Amino acid sequence: MGCNIAIDGPAGAGKSTIAKKVAKELSFIYVDTGAMYRAMALYLLNQGVNGDSQQEVEAACSGADISIEYKNGEQIVILNGENVNSMLRTEQVGNMASKSSANAKVRAHLLKLQRTLAEKNDVVMDGRDIGTTILPNAEVKIYLTASADTRAKRRALEYEQRGESFDLDQIRKDIIERDERDMNREISPLKQADDAVLVDSSEMGIDDVVNAILNVYKEKVQK
Ligand code: DC
Repeated sequence: MGCNIAIDGPAGAGKSTIAKKVAKELSFIYVDTGAMYRAMALYLLNQGVNGDSQQEVEAACSGADISIEYKNGEQIVILNGENVNSMLRTEQVGNMASKSSANAKVRAHLLKLQRTLAEKNDVVMDGRDIGTTILPNAEVKIYLTASADTRAKRRALEYEQRGESFDLDQIRKDIIERDERDMNREISPLKQADDAVLVDSSEMGIDDVVNAILNVYKEKVQK
């Protein structure tokens, strides 16, 4: 069993940036479970599935064969034999992922992959239900959040850096809608685990957040 650090929180809280840095500091691997749900969403979109129909999602999802590889420390998501990393980070895929991830069959499909990675490796794994459902015995659990406004601005900056156009109000609206869905679904809703440490990054820089998490790790694991 590897040492497991679980980081959960809403969209745009900075989970992936922070988790990657924590993983690098500790020489752990970084597992981005959102990217797995996004790969599933990409598959469903390509199949023309209506994300609002749980029946359609359920019927189609078993056609997605999703696996993970690491190249130079970077997680590569393979969907039916193809590296799909460059296709995952659009709002369309994110919104579909939020809808299709509410489906029990989709979640069961990805749970095994996530647990196996955590069993075999020291991992920093981020997502929505890692501390509550996937790795309930994780040595360190963090619930990373920030205000909706801060999160929307961070997402907008990502678009700007990629040279893509965006509408800040639309991003904020999508984020709030996505939170609603992720927090209120029946299976594995986004929620702070009882034993998770809350970190609100609204007023914190990246390094401050990384250090706060490393301190929790030192307290819990290296004491
Ligand atoms: O973190 P992200 O934006 O890449 O995640 C995309 C969607 O996937 C998110 O809206 C909810 C879903 N998700 C999930 O349900 N459980 C996870 N462990 C990770 C992501």
